[in-house]
Amino acid sequence: MTAAIANDTLLRALRREPTAHTPVWLMRQAGRYLPEYNATRAKAGSFMALAQSPELATEVTLQPLARFPLDAAILFSDILTVPDAMGLGLSFAEGEGPRFARPVRDEAAVAALAVPDMGALRYVFDAVAHIKRALHGKVPLIGFAGSPFTLACYMIEGGGSPDFATVRKMAYARPDLLWRIVEVNTRAVTQYLSEQISHGADVAMLFDTWGGLLAAEAYRRFSLAPMREVVAALGHRVPTIAFARGGGARLADIAAIGASCIGLDWTVDIAAARADVGSRVALQGNLDPLVLLTDPATVEREAAAIVRAAGPAPGHVFNLGHGIVPGTPPENVAALVDVVHATSRETRAVA
Ligand code: CP3
Repeated sequence: MTAAIANDTLLRALRREPTAHTPVWLMRQAGRYLPEYNATRAKAGSFMALAQSPELATEVTLQPLARFPLDAAILFSDILTVPDAMGLGLSFAEGEGPRFARPVRDEAAVAALAVPDMGALRYVFDAVAHIKRALHGKVPLIGFAGSPFTLACYMIEGGGSPDFATVRKMAYARPDLLWRIVEVNTRAVTQYLSEQISHGADVAMLFDTWGGLLAAEAYRRFSLAPMREVVAALGHRVPTIAFARGGGARLADIAAIGASCIGLDWTVDIAAARADVGSRVALQGNLDPLVLLTDPATVEREAAAIVRAAGPAPGHVFNLGHGIVPGTPPENVAALVDVVHATSRETRAVA
């Protein structure tokens, strides 16, 4: 299925094969820090209208690649498309983040929850196919979904939250309800990623942004076990990345879920992470996104330090520890991509 890809550095690094340089892409690389993104979003009228148009989603996916020599494209969409297709009524209020009109909190709402018909997500699969064609095999395309638990967080809370208190209380008081939501999400996410792969995604990534909030036992049960199930169900069709925000203290457990690569947040010492997991998995990360709010010289120093800490052994994908923030100057991103390529070539030359 995978046609030849001209720059397959990312795919090689995910398989822990040697590469001439460390591949780099950035979470939220298509986003509000780019004036051309804001222009396309304004033309679309809203974030969801943008995501629902395969043509416009393709346009914004390609925008960062036109500016910077990035080693991957990521589908322009959102993790919350899946609960939206379940009928929860997603909207993005200006400057406020996501909201669900019908959160899933009580027994009746949980009982009514079902895996959505993948036809309701056709616009996502059409976008994948459209982007894949527009890339002409230049770099791989990353498809993605929220982890079953992270989706449950937004579905239960009804939007973003600093602590997802409703969800954590449910984990203790009504684990049966949380389990049922996570179980439906596991099947939905598996189908959703399978369809993305069938439409051309070269990599499948799971975003577990909020699993790190859970106590140890609940983390294994509600966050890690469902991700392991998704990864197993996908088989080895494409390499997989599990972004585990807040997972720094649990890397050995995360490495055991079967994903090709663990995405690290910026609080983790990447050299220590490598020592923890050995050569079992690739590691992705992990520059603090706020470094990109400084200046090119600082960006170069901090990014080069991470490349060196990750070491010359195969299996590092450079990224931020979380998404690019809106005020990021694009010239700092240019400096970042160049220094990752240059420094990693140097480290390999002396190794
Ligand atoms: O990385 C990329 O360039 C691909 C596109 C992408 C988006 N969201 C676009 C987006 C990806 C991979 C996501 C994942 C996502 N979405 C996550 C997991 C990663 C993470 O950030 O922790 C989460 C939790 C969401 C849910 C979500 N979507 C939130 C909380 C918000 C509001 C916060 C914000 O940054 O505005 C969104 C909106 C969103 N998703 C935007 C973009 C570019 C900004 C919306 C806009 O343009 O108005």
